[in-house]
Parts: sequence; C-alpha cells; structure tokens
Amino acid sequence: MTRSLIAAHERVKNLDWETTYVERPVRYETKYRIPAKTKDPFRQLLRDFLVMEAEKDDRTYGSLLDVLARTDAVNKADPAFTEALKPLLPAARDGEYYAMQCMMMLSETVENSGLRQGYLAQELDEVRHVQSETWLARYYAKHYHDPAGFNVSARTREWNPFLMPIKAGLSTFASNDPIVNCLNLQVVAETAYTNPLFVALTEVAARSGDTVLPSLFLSIQSDEGRHMANGYATLAAVLADDRNLEFLQQDLEEAFWRQHRPLDTLLGIVFDYYRDRNVPTKSYREYWDDWIWHDYAGSYLGKLEKFGLRQPGCIAQARQDVHWLGHTGALFLYALWPLCFWRASPVPEDSFGWYEDHYPGWYAYFGPFWEDAVAKADPANRSLALEAFPEIPPLCRVCLLPSALPRVDLAEIHLEWDGERNHSFCSVICRDMYHRNPELYRDHTNFGERFHGWDLADVIVEMGLLRPDGRTLIGQPSLDLEKMWTIDDIRAIGWEVKYPLAERIPYRLGHADEVPA
Ligand code: BEZ
Ligand code: FE
Ligand code: FE
Repeated sequence: MTRSLIAAHERVKNLDWETTYVERPVRYETKYRIPAKTKDPFRQLLRDFLVMEAEKDDRTYGSLLDVLARTDAVNKADPAFTEALKPLLPAARDGEYYAMQCMMMLSETVENSGLRQGYLAQELDEVRHVQSETWLARYYAKHYHDPAGFNVSARTREWNPFLMPIKAGLSTFASNDPIVNCLNLQVVAETAYTNPLFVALTEVAARSGDTVLPSLFLSIQSDEGRHMANGYATLAAVLADDRNLEFLQQDLEEAFWRQHRPLDTLLGIVFDYYRDRNVPTKSYREYWDDWIWHDYAGSYLGKLEKFGLRQPGCIAQARQDVHWLGHTGALFLYALWPLCFWRASPVPEDSFGWYEDHYPGWYAYFGPFWEDAVAKADPANRSLALEAFPEIPPLCRVCLLPSALPRVDLAEIHLEWDGERNHSFCSVICRDMYHRNPELYRDHTNFGERFHGWDLADVIVEMGLLRPDGRTLIGQPSLDLEKMWTIDDIRAIGWEVKYPLAERIPYRLGHADEVPA
C-alpha cells in the first residue's frame, strides 16, 4: 500500500464523528463493551477495494454473457444438480441480505472507526452478492431448459417447509444484539460455513458439469476472507475487555448451533443427494471434517483459547449429527416434493453402495424408502411418499427443523405446553435458547401450525406452486419431463396436513419430556 493510500484511509476514518448538536438515539443495544481503537482490519480499503469491485462485476457478468451463453453451459450440467439451485440461490440471497443488515447494525453501534470502515466495505460486498445471486437466478431462468421454479422463491419461500428453517437460521445475522449477530454471521457462518458453501460446492457443481456457478461463487468467496477478518478483529476487540467474556462463551455456543442445524442439513442434502451420481465424489461428512472440524474448530477456534475463549461444546455433538442430518433431511424433503419448486430425483439402487460406503448403516434406515420412492415417482401409480407419514413431525420452535433430526430413532425431542401453545425443541440447546429469549422466537409459526387441517392440493395452490398451464406442479418427484404430476393427481389422493401440536391441548409423545398439567 502506498503512503498516499494509507493517508487517504486515515482521512476517511476521521470522517467518523460524534454529534454535539443532537443526541444520537441508541438503535441497536449491545451488552458488549468495545474499545474505541483496536487493530484496523481494513487498511487496504479505498482504491484497491473499489477497483477490485468493478473488476469483479466485469468478469462475472462479462464471461457469463459471452462464453457460457454461447456454449449453452447451463444445459450441459446434470439437472439433478441444477435443480438444487432453484432453492439454493434464493436461500443464499436471504443470507446476503441479512449480512448487509448486520453491517448496518454494527456500523451504527460499534464506536470504533477502524472496525466501522471494515463493516462499510463488507456492506458494499454484501449488496453486490445480493445483486449477483439475483442476477444468476435470472440467468438460469433465461437459459435453463426447465426454468419453472427459478422465478417463484419470493412468492413461495414464506411457507416453504425447507426454506423456512434456512431463512430463520440466516436471519440471526440481523435479529439480536449486533455483536451476537456478528458471532452468527462473521465468526461462524462466514469463517466456518462459507467454505463448504462457496468453495466445496463449486467442486460438486463442476463434477456435475456446471461451469456457471463456480465462476460466481468463487468470486463471492474471495470477499469472504475479508469478512472473516472483520469478524476476527471484532472478536479481538470484544476480548480486549475482560468483562465481555462472561457473555461471549454462551453466545458463541448458541451461534454455532444456530448455524450448524440449518446449514449442515441444507449442505448435507445438496452435497450428497443433488449431484451427478455417476461421478465419484467425497461425502459431505468428509468435507465437513476438513473444513469445520480441522480448520475451523481445530485451528481457528483453537487459537482463541489463549484469550480464555473455549471451543463450543456443541461442536462435538454437531460432528456426530452430521453423519445422519442430511439423510433424514433428504428423506423428509423428498417426501414433501409436492411443496417444493424444483424437481427431485430419487436415489437409484445402483447408488446405494456409495451411501453405505460413506455412511455405514445407511441402507438399514434409508434404503427401503428410496426403493419405494422410484416406483412412486410415476403419477400413473397415484401414490405419494408422503402417505407413509400420517402427520407432520414436531418442528423445533427455534430452528424450525423437524425435531426428529438427526435420525428418527436418535432424536431427543422436548415438548412443552406454555398454557397457550405447544412447543417442540430438537435439542437442549434450542430449548434453552428459547427460554433465555422467548420473544425472539414467538413469531416462528411453523408450517404445521399454518396449514393444519388443509388438503395438500389446496396448500399447493395457496403457495403458487403451479406451472403457467395452471395444472402441472412446479415440483416433481423425478427428472422425467414426460411424466409430470398435476394438481388433479394430488387432489385424487386427498392427503391432509395434520400437525397435532397445532391443537390447543397439551400434547404428549411417548418418550418426550413431561408436559406440565
Ligand atoms: C455471506 O454473505 O457472508 C453469507 C451468505 C449466506 C450464508 C452465509 C454467509
Ligand atoms: Fe456475502
Ligand atoms: Fe459475507
């Protein structure tokens, strides 16, 4: 960095001023104490950063438009993978939007001009990420052979049983004390999870023949290094005041769990089930061990121990659960295909060996479901995988995921009746998080509560999940475009959404907690 750039950067920091003529309202309270001057994470801000932003826009949009469009790249990939982008791009975009809000909240609250400059630059990155992921979904909608679904997420995500828990998890970037938001976003989601999301996923994409997604995702990930540095600098500032340690340990524990639950379920499903199954690949569990267990827990968090911050205890639990989360999630999600806005493909029998090799014990729990699913995919059979489920399983009030995770027989479901509503929790951590701050989760009305008693066909219509012909479903249980399900097929089956916890009575499950009388 030249002297003049350093001088310019210092000058910009001097623009950070306190008003004497008006009292500034405290918009976002924090219990943490942040020193006014700490290590500046963003000294190369001004000219380098802005030139790089412009370069990224040119490269990303320019190459997609020229080379990839002419070579019809989006249609060369395995649709088993491309279909996953219909929910994945809007889910990531929600994350970007909350990340942007997180930066506004931190800039408003943290009175440290060096940190603020870093937040400001990250805010610009996150705005660009929102725009480029929106643009990419439009690009696929324009060029992909089955565009239905790339354009509906804004309408359907509100009640989509898959996107709801992901959105709830990512909303933690902007729903709490700004420093707690920073732990969720920068210290956990960006430092631990953007590696599988924006790096490892590009390997899955490339192995499935997709050359479009990697160019954009790798451009995004090269910003995340700076965002991680912002998180680290904020953490260092928080650790500079001993009084903060009493909150920090608990908040980090919760942040890890809140990100792990939805993100590992999402990524486990996408990595292990939505890809070209003929190309050998690592399992999500192996990627997880590399990126989260060794790099994040071992190296990054390990280095913080000298400041008195211990590794969250729940990481060991997460590591055990990652073995099954994605498989149970994929099974529930496949059963719910009529409520999805993408086409799923059932696991063919010649892939069973891969699952058993990478996840010993898989067949006994999941094999028979997938054997059945292949036959049920044909609308002529008028049979839904969902019929195996007489009711929606209890959904966690905090993370909104099925409390039956990581695997139905291993689940630790906690039920409570608060005098007005039943609550289900997937774990002690989610339950205790709820009790520490119930008003944060009161609005987490789940899919079962919303649609209890509805006919499945009516839910599909309400959620706008029909193609332009008004009959054919957007979601399908196979990639076969010749055999597509219509709303009449679903109506003829007559499956009713039943969520017993929606009824205003104390609800009991055989092995769950005692319900107070
Ligand atoms: C990010 O922009 O940093 C982000 C987006 C989605 C998920 C996690 C992080
Ligand atoms: Fe981002
Ligand atoms: Fe980011």
